Parts: sequence; C-alpha cells; structure tokens
Amino acid sequence: MHQFFEEDLGKQHIFLLHGLGGSGKTQTELKFIQESSSRFSDIFLIDTSTVETIDTGLKNIASTKNVGSTADDALQWLSSQPSEWLLLFDNADDPKINLHKFLPQCNYGNILITSWNPGLQVYTGSDFLVSDMEEPDAVQLLLKSAAKDFTSRNQVIAAEIVKALWYLPLAIIQAGAFISKSGALGTYLDLFKKNKAWLLREQPTQSHADYGWTVNTTGQISFDQLSQPAKTLLQL
Ligand SMILES: Nc1ncnc2c1ncn2[C@@H]1O[C@H](COP(=O)(O)OP(=O)(O)OP(=O)(O)O)[C@@H](O)[C@H]1O
Ligand SMILES: [Mg+2]
Repeated sequence: MHQFFEEDLGKQHIFLLHGLGGSGKTQTELKFIQESSSRFSDIFLIDTSTVETIDTGLKNIASTKNVGSTADDALQWLSSQPSEWLLLFDNADDPKINLHKFLPQCNYGNILITSWNPGLQVYTGSDFLVSDMEEPDAVQLLLKSAAKDFTSRNQVIAAEIVKALWYLPLAIIQAGAFISKSGALGTYLDLFKKNKAWLLREQPTQSHADYGWTVNTTGQISFDQLSQPAKTLLQL
C-alpha cells in the first residue's frame, strides 16, 4: 500500500482491501494511516455501509471544510483540490450500492476502499486480499486475548487452535475471549471440534468491543445476501 500510494501514477490512486468479515481490513487500514499520516493533507473516513451513511460522511466533509452542506458540495470540493487528500470508504460491502457516484471525478487524490466484495476491483488501480494471519502473529494474538502466558507449551497448543480457526483474526479473538473466561486452553480444541457453531456465536469480551459481529453473524449476513438458487446450491 505504501508503494502504491507513493508511486506517481498521473491519475487518482484507488486501492481496495477485500476479504471476509473479521479478516482485519479495517485494522490494516488504520495501521496504514498511522504509518503514513504525514503523507496526506486531509484524511476523511466514510462509513460506506449504506447510502445514508455515505451521504452523512460526505456532508461532514463539506461542513468541516466550510464548502457547503451537501454531499455534492463535498465531492466538488475534493475534485477541485489537487492535493494529497485521502478518502477512506470503509465497509463498502453492499453490492447494490453504486460506489462510482461517490468517487470524486478527477485525476488526483487518494482513495482506500475496504469491502467483503472483490468485485470492487473494477474501480481500482491495485488491490489486496486480507485473509489469514501468519502463524506466529496468530499464536501471539490468541495467547494475548486469552490472557495466557507466552510459554513454549502454550505456544504449541495455541498453534493447533489457530490452525483450526483458519488463522482468521476475528475467530482467534472470539476463541481467546472464551478461553480467558473458561481458563481452558488445553481443552479448547476438542470443545471447538464438537461445538463449532455454538462457539463461533460467542461474542468477544469487552476489551475487543470495537468489532460488533461474530464469525457466525458475518457468515450469516453474506449468506442472506445471496439469491435463493445460490443459497440452495451452498446448502446442497
Ligand atoms: N492483525 C491483527 N492483530 C490483532 N487483532 C486484529 C488483527 N486484525 C484484526 N484484528 C481484530 O479482529 C477483529 C476484526 O478486525 P477488523 O475490524 O479489522 O475486520 P474487517 O476485515 O474490517 O471486518 P469487516 O469486513 O466486518 O469490517 C477486530 O476486533 C480487530 O481488533
Ligand atoms: Mg471493517
């Protein structure tokens, strides 16, 4: 991402982070901003879940910059600013929303989109699939969220658990929350194999309340958006 946004493309930079719910797209985006805040003149975060939240996000830009009160005022202002602004379209997950309408039409500026939908690649110059964590990071995250010591024995047990959890951050945090409550690191894997659906519905602890969904709900939301024939095919 650093390389992409630093390169002189002679056109607008648009980058897509896509992947499953809970795979770490927003965390990656936040880390990127933290590491490169001095590069951008202005950073605007737009909740892209619905047309209404996008409208609110754009109106906020217009009022913050004193350039009007509507979403169009904000888009026009951005299109007339040949500077290094960064627009973050977070959670652009709904495939029915036409994002094109909300992208400032000009050759400059920077846009970063996070979405469950890899189809948004049509808008971008580059993209990245956020998926599983590296094993050492995953082990560290599990032991930290489970409040367990980083002993070599715990690391071996944790490595088996994170493998069973597809190295997915959200699943690891949920497992960690469960283990910290029950205290049972050694027996978690057996329990998970027998009660997968139930454990994936467990809400993480308050310390991770930044993310409101569970692995189970993110899967259900994607499933609900499918057409009936697609649902039937998956069920088969
Ligand atoms: N690299 C990481 N290290 C530690 N925790 C992480 C990491 N990546 C993600 N998490 C945690 O996993 C949870 C989900 O991450 P995040 O919100 O970034 O997912 P997302 O891909 O943006 O999901 P969604 O598509 O539903 O918005 C959060 O609680 C976050 O703190
Ligand atoms: Mg997100």
